[in-house]
Amino acid sequence: MNSRDSEHMIAELTEKENYEVIDDFTKADLILINTCSVREKPVHKLFSELGGFNKKKKPSAKIGVCGCTASHLGEEILKRAPYVSFVLGARNVSKITQVLYKDKAVEVDINYDESAFAFKDFRSSPYKGFINISIGCDKSCTFCIVPKTRGDEVSIPLDLILKEASRLVDSGAKEIFLLGQNVNNYGRRFSAEHEKVNFTELLRRLSKIEKLQRIRFTSPHPFHMDDEFIEEFASNPKICKSMHMPLQSGSTKVLKDMKRGYTKEWFLNRVEKLKSIAPEATISTDIIVAFPGESDEDFEDTLDVLRKVKFDQIFSFKYSPRPETEAEHFTNIVDEDVASQRLTQLQSLNNEIIDEKHSSYLGNVYNVYFEELNRDNYIAGRSDNNIVIRVKGSEELLGQFRDVKITEIGRTILTGEIVA
Ligand code: 5AD
Ligand code: SF4
Repeated sequence: MNSRDSEHMIAELTEKENYEVIDDFTKADLILINTCSVREKPVHKLFSELGGFNKKKKPSAKIGVCGCTASHLGEEILKRAPYVSFVLGARNVSKITQVLYKDKAVEVDINYDESAFAFKDFRSSPYKGFINISIGCDKSCTFCIVPKTRGDEVSIPLDLILKEASRLVDSGAKEIFLLGQNVNNYGRRFSAEHEKVNFTELLRRLSKIEKLQRIRFTSPHPFHMDDEFIEEFASNPKICKSMHMPLQSGSTKVLKDMKRGYTKEWFLNRVEKLKSIAPEATISTDIIVAFPGESDEDFEDTLDVLRKVKFDQIFSFKYSPRPETEAEHFTNIVDEDVASQRLTQLQSLNNEIIDEKHSSYLGNVYNVYFEELNRDNYIAGRSDNNIVIRVKGSEELLGQFRDVKITEIGRTILTGEIVA
C-alpha cells in the first residue's frame, strides 16, 4: 500500500508541479520518506535516516515525512526533527501538492476521505499495476496500529476500479494487483451512494476485461474466506493461484487474544477447502511469535499449522508493542530470548518445508510473465502461482509470457530454461 501511495505522490508531483524522480538525493529539491509504523524498528530508523538526509541534502531542499508514522506521530516529528518541512499522513497523500506550499504543515486526519480522488497516473512498472480497492481497516486486531494510522475502511467505487484496470491494460500491462488491508471485505462501506458488490463479484467483473490476463490481490482476511470466494478463486482462470492467508498464530487462545475472529480449526478448514479445489495454489502467510501470553503449547500450535499447511512463503515477526493498541497494555510479556528462539525455530522449520517443496519442482514447467532484468543476463518473472523464476535472456522477454522448465532449485528463486 505504501508503494502505491508513493506512486500516487510521484504522479501528482510530476504531472502538476513539474518534478521528476532522481536517484541521487543530494541533488534533490524535495525528499519524501514514506514510512511504515506496523513495528517499532522502522520508526527508529526514520529518525536516524532523517538526520543523514538533513546533513547531505541541498540547503534549499525540503524534506517531507509521509505515511503511517507521519499519521501517528504528527507534530512530534517536527519537534524531534525541526528541519522537516511537512508531515503528510497515510490517507492524506492527495494533499501532497498543497503541503509543498505550506511550511510546517501537518496533515494527518485519519478520517480524510480520498477514496474517490482522481489521482494522476504514475507506474513504476509498465507490465503490472497496483490498484487500491479500499483504504483503512475496520478490524481491531489487538496488536495492530493500522486502524489508527489509516482510519476506518472505505471501499473505492467499483466504476473507478474498473476504469483504472482498463486504463492499465490499454497501456500494455497484463497483470493487476488489487490492494487493501482487508480485500475480501470489499463493498461494505462507500463514502457515497455506489453500486454495492462484494469482493467475489469485483473479481468477476474485473476478469471480464478482455486483455487483462492476471489478477492478484493482497491481503484477504481468513475470517472472510467464504466458500463463494474460494470457489471463484479456484475456477476463474484469470485469478492467479497464490493466496496470502495471514495466520498470525496457530493457537486458538492467542487468536482470541489477538481478536482475529477465527480459530485454528477454521483456518485449517479454509486451507483444506482451497487445496481441495485449487491444488496448484501456493499459500503465503504472516506470523507473529511471542504475542503476550503465548505459551510453549500455543507456539507448538503455530508450528503444527506450519507442518499441516506447508506454506510456500512466510513473513514472520517478533511481536512488537505498538502505541494506541489494546495489546500495548497486556502485561504477560514473553521473554525476549524466548521470542528470538521461537522466531528462529519457526523460520528453520519453514526453510525445511520450502526446501523440500522446491526440490519437487525440478523438471516442472511453469508459465512465467517476465518483468525484471537481473544481474548476469538473467531475466525474472513469476509463475501464475507466484513462484519467482529466472532464465538467461534479455529485455525482449520483458512483458512476455513463456513456458519455463525448472532446471535449478533455490530457496527464493528457481532457475529454468524456456521450452515454449
Ligand atoms: N508486531 C509484530 N508484527 C506485527 N504485524 C502487525 N502488527 C504487528 C506488531 N505489533 C505484522 C502482522 C501483519 C503484518 C503486516 O505485520 O503479521 O499481518
Ligand atoms: Fe491490522 Fe488486523 Fe486490520 Fe490487518 S486486519 S490491518 S492486522 S487491524
